[in-house]
Amino acid sequence: MKMNELKLVYFSPTGTTRKVIMEAARNIDLKSVSFDLTVHKEKKPVLQFKKNDFVIFGIPVYGGRVPQTFLEYFDTLKGDNTPAALMATYGCREYEDALLELKTEVENRGFKVIGAGAFPVEHSIVRSIGLSRPNKSDMKIIADFGIQLNRRLKQEESFDGFNIQVPGNSPYRKYSRTPLYPKTDVSRCTECGACAKSCPSGAISSADPKKTNNKKCISCLKCVRGCKQKARYVNKFKLKMAQRKLTKVCQNDKAADIFL
Ligand SMILES: Cc1cc2nc3c(=O)[nH]c(=O)nc-3n(C[C@H](O)[C@H](O)[C@H](O)COP(=O)(O)O)c2cc1C
Repeated sequence: MKMNELKLVYFSPTGTTRKVIMEAARNIDLKSVSFDLTVHKEKKPVLQFKKNDFVIFGIPVYGGRVPQTFLEYFDTLKGDNTPAALMATYGCREYEDALLELKTEVENRGFKVIGAGAFPVEHSIVRSIGLSRPNKSDMKIIADFGIQLNRRLKQEESFDGFNIQVPGNSPYRKYSRTPLYPKTDVSRCTECGACAKSCPSGAISSADPKKTNNKKCISCLKCVRGCKQKARYVNKFKLKMAQRKLTKVCQNDKAADIFL
């Protein structure tokens, strides 16, 4: 099939998923267009793709699931039997039902999954886990995933015959929120509003960026990473607890799982 464009639809609060999806995209011989759904939009954009577009969906795994904030954009998502690949990054614990959930959600909206992968990376909450991953050898595996997708796109006339199987269980595991809600150190905050503008879930007040709505906060820590004044922080004790808990269940040397 003569392909049109590569569309990258992703959610990446701390930038790792973006890095991973871009590496795969670099190896696909199509002009790419990005749909970065990390910045909160009250009015969701219409995401409609053609039969001959190729779409890569990229997500970080949250609690073994697809982040619900990303799925909020799916009401206006539509494919036309459009071929798609799925890329999930996770912090060296597990990705559990995330790929199955993502596959089901995109296929319900008119996409045909022709490849998927789960990639262990640095944990965005406890960065010592999987520190600095994706490393050189991870990037090679990710690039190779892109190369194989590219080959598939060039070789196949139709994608109807593909039946990619990914692990996971339905009903999906219950998502239990990570209770790590960033706060503002008022002595450092200059009220520049950058955190409010960039928050993926609209949890920080733009009128008063010192205020966070914990009910909306998804604990992605984008505001903590992005604050130039280092005014956003999470409680040190809670972070230590998370570190202790996660260090026990994460394995720094996990390998990528590729489904092609
Ligand atoms: C709220 C939250 C929940 C997470 N849940 C998981 C998980 O269930 N399994 C896992 O291995 N990593 C988990 N992680 C780590 C992220 O999946 C991982 O660091 C991801 O690459 C972050 O992507 P980003 O840099 O694009 O935001 C979680 C991170 C956050 C912030």
